[in-house]
Amino acid sequence: MKTIHIGILGYGVVGTGVARLLKEKKQLLESRIGAALKLKTIADIDTTTDRGLDLGDTSLVSDANLIINDPQIDIIVETIGGETLAKKFILDALENQKHVVTANKALLASFGNDLVKVAGKNLVDLGFEASCGGCMPIIKSLRESLVANDIKSMSAILNGTCNYILTKISREGSGFEEALKHAQDLGYAEAEPSLDIDGFDTAHKLAILNSLAHGMEINLKDIHVEGIRNITPVDIEFARSFGYTIKLLAIGKIHDDYVEARVHPTMISGSNPLSHVEMSMNAIVIDADATGQTMLYGHGAGMMPTASAVLSDIADIARNIISGTKRRVPILGYPEDNIKPMPILPMDELYTRYYLRFEAQDHPGVLAKISGILGENNISIKSVHQKGRKTNGKVPVVMITHIAKEAWVQKALKQISKTDSVVGRPIVIRIEETDQE
Ligand code: HSE
Repeated sequence: MKTIHIGILGYGVVGTGVARLLKEKKQLLESRIGAALKLKTIADIDTTTDRGLDLGDTSLVSDANLIINDPQIDIIVETIGGETLAKKFILDALENQKHVVTANKALLASFGNDLVKVAGKNLVDLGFEASCGGCMPIIKSLRESLVANDIKSMSAILNGTCNYILTKISREGSGFEEALKHAQDLGYAEAEPSLDIDGFDTAHKLAILNSLAHGMEINLKDIHVEGIRNITPVDIEFARSFGYTIKLLAIGKIHDDYVEARVHPTMISGSNPLSHVEMSMNAIVIDADATGQTMLYGHGAGMMPTASAVLSDIADIARNIISGTKRRVPILGYPEDNIKPMPILPMDELYTRYYLRFEAQDHPGVLAKISGILGENNISIKSVHQKGRKTNGKVPVVMITHIAKEAWVQKALKQISKTDSVVGRPIVIRIEETDQE
């Protein structure tokens, strides 16, 4: 039986999970792949901490170049994370004609187009199933299973930390910081919490998925990104009273010659299956023309779910190697010459429905003033709600709009903020409707 040699760069949580699967699932992998997968070397700056794994004849070294320059190694797994060292090592590995598997969504979102070109030039594969949605087979689904579909839209919960925080606030009224601390203790938060809670991690994943779905160059910089820092229990409670849940969604929709790509807290009703995705779970709903709606649900992070996704790429590459083929499936789902830039709709041009919450002065004429400004800006109000106790002479006033243009809403909110009818910044949460609504 042929032996395929593997090296791992980064012996942290995911690297340990990959090493564990390669060791513990040796027989299963051999019988499924028809080749032996031998973990030859792991490189990490820390070669002393006990990861609780018997490495057997696998070497643990501190110099990544011992893997990158090893002529026997066929596949290199990058589980270091970050954009500096990881980028250099991946580029060096690709230039050395090694196949590379990575879970590094931040790197792919920023430099993926270049990495794909370098892999193409060197005729090697670049696998990244673990970069989006952990163990959910979303990359393979878009790249292979849905090949005969036009992908009309994707909406997804792609950050377990945010979903965990929103669920904890919603279920238990926990404070934001307390819920974040829990998420960090559970080990799926990014080292830098802002990547999770300010929405960037979700945007990285959306940039990758958009490219696979539409054959477009990876474009991170034009994605509109808002995180969950401003979401309060008050808004979650109002949302619940209208039958909505608040989720941090990645939304990608194709139009004639542009795409919508945005990440922000979103109100969705109970008829949207994503409203039932709780705690740290991830899910994606893909609406495609032949299939209709398909939903994937699973663990978006964590040692073994992420390692499972890395192994799926290793298995694909190993199967290519033993059948004497390379790059059977294009890295971004389209041959590189067919990948084109595609514009992303500027946020000001978006049309959707809005939840607006104002801290309003409790005196006559205030509602008329706010709704007057909304009306002058072409924004039609569907309903007005005033609930809760007056504090310091202020009351929360919530308005739900009909479909309106983002630019009109932002302009109106600026005008309203300048009046003495409200205090503080109004809260804006976009409402996403399903086809049933
Ligand atoms: N920090 C990410 C999350 C982990 O919370 O989902 C995987 O990308």
